[in-house]
Amino acid sequence: MLNIRESLEALLSKALCTASGIADCNAQVNLSSRPEFGDYQANGVMSVAKQLKRNPRELAALVLSAIEENELIANAEVAGPGFINLFLREEFLQGLGQNLLNGSEPLVSPLSEHQTIVVDYSGPNLAKEMHVGHLRGTIIGDSLVRVLEGLGHNVIRQNHVGDWGTQFGMLIAHMEDVASDAPALLSDLESFYRAAKQRFDEEPAFAEKARNYVVKLQQGDAQCLASWQQFINESLTHCAQIYDLLGVSLSDENLKPESFYNSDLAPLIKELDEIGLLTESEGAKCVFLDEFTGKEGAPLPAIVQKSDGGFLYATTDLAAVRYRAKSLNADRVLYVVDARQSLHFQQIFAISRKAGFASESVSLEHIAYGTMMGKDGKPFKTRSGDTVKLQELLEESVRRAYDIVSEKNSELTDAEKTEIARVVGISAVKYSDLSKNRTSDYIFDWSTMLSFEGNTAPYMLYAYARIKSILRKRDENSSSDIGSLTIVEPAERALLMKVLQFSEVIRTVSVDCFPNLLCNYLYELAGTFMRFYEQCPVLKAEDDVRESRLALSQLSANTLKKGLELLGLETLEKM
Ligand code: ARG
Repeated sequence: MLNIRESLEALLSKALCTASGIADCNAQVNLSSRPEFGDYQANGVMSVAKQLKRNPRELAALVLSAIEENELIANAEVAGPGFINLFLREEFLQGLGQNLLNGSEPLVSPLSEHQTIVVDYSGPNLAKEMHVGHLRGTIIGDSLVRVLEGLGHNVIRQNHVGDWGTQFGMLIAHMEDVASDAPALLSDLESFYRAAKQRFDEEPAFAEKARNYVVKLQQGDAQCLASWQQFINESLTHCAQIYDLLGVSLSDENLKPESFYNSDLAPLIKELDEIGLLTESEGAKCVFLDEFTGKEGAPLPAIVQKSDGGFLYATTDLAAVRYRAKSLNADRVLYVVDARQSLHFQQIFAISRKAGFASESVSLEHIAYGTMMGKDGKPFKTRSGDTVKLQELLEESVRRAYDIVSEKNSELTDAEKTEIARVVGISAVKYSDLSKNRTSDYIFDWSTMLSFEGNTAPYMLYAYARIKSILRKRDENSSSDIGSLTIVEPAERALLMKVLQFSEVIRTVSVDCFPNLLCNYLYELAGTFMRFYEQCPVLKAEDDVRESRLALSQLSANTLKKGLELLGLETLEKM
């Protein structure tokens, strides 16, 4: 699908170069802020005029006459101090819409230049059950991989699960003691973890054994490895269930656990030492970089090996950078991880550059997200102060959705209600997260996320189902394909323009990694459709007008569905 903004920017930039005599300039084309300013606006003339000390309006007038012959622009005019307002040609827009409708153009077309993009997301710690803290990274990451894949990038998912930390010593020791009961006990990972932890805190002999087991495990002791594997398998099965419930596209093939890097760690330390990056501090091996300082300018180390020889989270992450850059040949590596780890990633990225683990051409990006808060403004917890298990949260959402659906639509069969509730409940949790700017913390609130009003999943799903019901009414009376687009009314034009901007939004999300921009767009699209539907009768209109409006409805439905799919949401044909 043609990207209108980019095409206009290319045209206008070329004209600006011709008019100004400067070789490389950017006309900065963006959507207009108001309809009277046209469909798009070029704002880049002023800065070039300033640079050349010329009158911006005069330069803008020269730009207008230098715009090449094209089929996009109906009219262009100079406005204000030197903006250029661009009005697009109806036939051109109709043509684009028609191509989308008959399938000769996809809603999202693969880019000609695609990259290899590694996306590190979800990454739960396997010692415990998945809890709300894993929700944001899992959902945001999954929507990003869908968007990037939609654009034709070679996306490599990496689920960097925590399976190698010190907690595993205590878990293996506990497994050994409960022996034959272990399989049954493991079905409740959370209690199992708590029992092991309690013993670790209270029984010195147990703690001693646990510490000893971590070392044995990391050295490859067969018995320890076998118990460890049993635990890990149980925990991974649990993760897979959650991914399944959530409709997240991670599978076993995407697992690249911390343990995967174990054999790389000792050589990596040696290498850091050889390049002169290592400093010993209180027995631990550290990397000090000038750009990282703590309180009062004191140098801040990244510890890569503890005094007892153990490796850390940072060591594994350094090995992972190298693997992703050198073995996976990544052009970009996206780390969809909690914002509280931002110093960690700054250090990892900086050390990796210094050590040559990733060259400057590899883009390392921390896609940080804020914390999910309870109504009290503190990180979301259960009433008793425990972390909220994801499984329970999702089940509760589906239960609440069921009550709402039953109330609104009592004539549905129970099977229908159950299915609608599942989609609404899961979507509500996902969408309420995705629709927030990821960098901020947000307050988790059942009533807003399950509301049928505002920028919510129920509203979006309902908007889609409503358009589908209009289209079904047509199908009852006609079996021919939907006719062609003829845009007359301003509300029709506004809707078509909105649909055509879909691919621009997808492009932006792929670069900046803010899925909330896609949510905002879809919300606006749904709103633009509703205004169109109020102002332009569809089923009651006659012949060609009716067909054209049905075509617009079809386009809107296709776009909503595709957009929700890229967010990782299912849609319902009926609600
Ligand atoms: N397991 C980590 C945690 O729960 C997240 C892993 C993120 N990825 C990474 N490469 N460090 O905090």
